[in-house]
Amino acid sequence: MTPQRAQLLARMGLAPLWRLREAPDDNAADPAVEPEGAPDPADSPGDVVASGAIAAVPSAAAVPPAVALDAAVAPVPDAEDDGAWERLEREIRDCTACPLHRQRRQAVPGIGDRRPRWLVVGEGPGAEEDRRGEPFVGPAGQLLDAMLAAVGLSRQQGAFIANSVKCRPPGNRTPETEEIASCFPFLRRQVRLLAPRLIVAVGRPAAQALLNQPVRIADARGKTFEFEGIPVIVTYHPAYLLRNPHDKGKAWEDLCRARAMSRAAGQ
Ligand code: URA
Ligand code: SF4
Repeated sequence: MTPQRAQLLARMGLAPLWRLREAPDDNAADPAVEPEGAPDPADSPGDVVASGAIAAVPSAAAVPPAVALDAAVAPVPDAEDDGAWERLEREIRDCTACPLHRQRRQAVPGIGDRRPRWLVVGEGPGAEEDRRGEPFVGPAGQLLDAMLAAVGLSRQQGAFIANSVKCRPPGNRTPETEEIASCFPFLRRQVRLLAPRLIVAVGRPAAQALLNQPVRIADARGKTFEFEGIPVIVTYHPAYLLRNPHDKGKAWEDLCRARAMSRAAGQ
């Protein structure tokens, strides 16, 4: 990270949030952390929109104000959708559609606010997630929670967290293209039920699942893609950031851009 960037994060009171071992639990109490919905001149879109080709949505300002899906395929979520969620989660837990079901302890459907601003899509459950049945509960999850807290979101409020595959790949290997494709209908149903304002794909498998093409994170960062009318941005996976902390500043830029876009989308 450049000294300027470190200074920026420090000035915004965000630098400590990015250090995994400093308890992220009391982030909400940090007065420097603005909720995602609050205005914040320090990171206007002009500051954070990365340059580069724009795939589907030309700029934050051009994000369509209504990102909800077509009512015919995705009714606005409400209490009646509990049945749909129950069915979906049961189907995921019972699924044997790909070889990953053989070595799982349990499938990990996803967790979070069912009326989220953001849907965060990761790779797949690790050992701890497989044991607990909840996504992102290991070290990468602590960093993800800190990243979300830095933009005023949490798995309790504003964010839903899911994965490109719902069952743990043995030895935490990267899921195969075929496994991602087998599991994709579940992710698509989650997107339709959640109708998030924005989707954040963290890491390659998530990007590959949503964009239906091979993706290099370094190339896809700074662009805006679209899935069923919902803007998708791509950034580094928190596990990658733990191994490559010098790229945390780039991930922070991506989150700022995502925040500017979801604010521009209103609601
Ligand atoms: N990494 C992921 O991509 N997903 C999880 O659920 C946990 C770690
Ligand atoms: Fe089914 Fe997805 Fe698990 Fe494969 S990873 S068994 S498709 S739930």
